[in-house]
Amino acid sequence: MSMDADDSVTPSTTQISQAAQWLIQGRLVAFPTETVYGLGADAENPQAIQKIYAAKQRPPNHPLIVHLAPDADISYWTSDLSKQAQALIDAFWPGPLTLILPRAPHIPSAVSGGQPTIGLRCPAHPVASALLSSFAALKRGGQGGVAAPSANKFGHVSPTRAAHVRSEFPELPPDQLLVLEGGRSAVGIESTIVDLSDTKASGEPVLLRPGHIRPEQIAEVLGVMPGRPNAASPQVSGSLKAHYAPRTPLQLVPSCDLQQSIRENALLAAKNDGRIAAVVFKATADSGLPVDYYVCPGQADAYARDLYDILRRLDDQAYDALLIEQPPLTVAWQAVNDRLGRAAAAFL
Ligand code: TXA
Ligand code: MG
Repeated sequence: MSMDADDSVTPSTTQISQAAQWLIQGRLVAFPTETVYGLGADAENPQAIQKIYAAKQRPPNHPLIVHLAPDADISYWTSDLSKQAQALIDAFWPGPLTLILPRAPHIPSAVSGGQPTIGLRCPAHPVASALLSSFAALKRGGQGGVAAPSANKFGHVSPTRAAHVRSEFPELPPDQLLVLEGGRSAVGIESTIVDLSDTKASGEPVLLRPGHIRPEQIAEVLGVMPGRPNAASPQVSGSLKAHYAPRTPLQLVPSCDLQQSIRENALLAAKNDGRIAAVVFKATADSGLPVDYYVCPGQADAYARDLYDILRRLDDQAYDALLIEQPPLTVAWQAVNDRLGRAAAAFL
């Protein structure tokens, strides 16, 4: 499952300042981050935010993450920068961690889908940092944040390359969406989200979305394991049961059932001259069946980096089915299993 490098050209300083100007004008700019590409707009401009929801076809009550430059004043955005929040920021920013905090009253609620909280994240990607700093410098008072969900249609696979973003929004001409290049996203799946906004009244941090930064790393900093979301937790679109889905039917298959399931599905596909794809941990001898095998990394971080890219590639090849060997059910694989489980749930 190794992918060719996309040795994209890094945007010039001129392109970065042009992109920052677009954001100031209330226009959309897609930009790379270390997790996935984001579809960005000025977080304090409700009309610009509206363009994100329209482009993504996303329900308007789903809050967006605000992306900040490394030197941003976080207390501009939240009314309660707690010790816990500051400790996580010191440990993991810039990096793939989003914090949900109480929203400062002067920040328009549009960015949070009307919720009293705000999602904040400082991405670790040179192009994102340059854009965010350049944008903030143009804003009054030097404070500015870029609201950005993953740059894909609602419910679809997140983009990890600039080319993915362009193919997600064919209806947006270049004068409506500027896409900054930044190569392949190194993490490959969306940020870990920790809610510190006291939703459970217990004050316990809540893990809303698993990611590259694992719960035990959060616990090392806070001294307490983040809890699981309950019914009172805010709505997270990534927490919908069916999400992150490709278009080709996808099944997660336990290793012990793999050979039989491949055989059954391949025989079925063969009846219509079709083929299936199987993403497996070990190469298998050719069976003569219409199956293409893709051997995936055996290590969770490497698997996460390739995951959306391989799903998109396989989706483009019009297979009758994608069979994915279930990775180990261990904490190291929690984030990958979370995304695979939701992708498969779309077809149950
Ligand atoms: O890695 C990432 O987080 C990427 C990159 C672009 O930064 N962004 C991303 O955004 O994944 P999105 O919108 O696809 O997912 C953000 C999740 C959503 O599920 C949203 O509901 C949740 O974060 N979220 C944002 N603000 C929130 C808030 N105030 N309360 C609860 N959940 C929030
Ligand atoms: Mg998303």
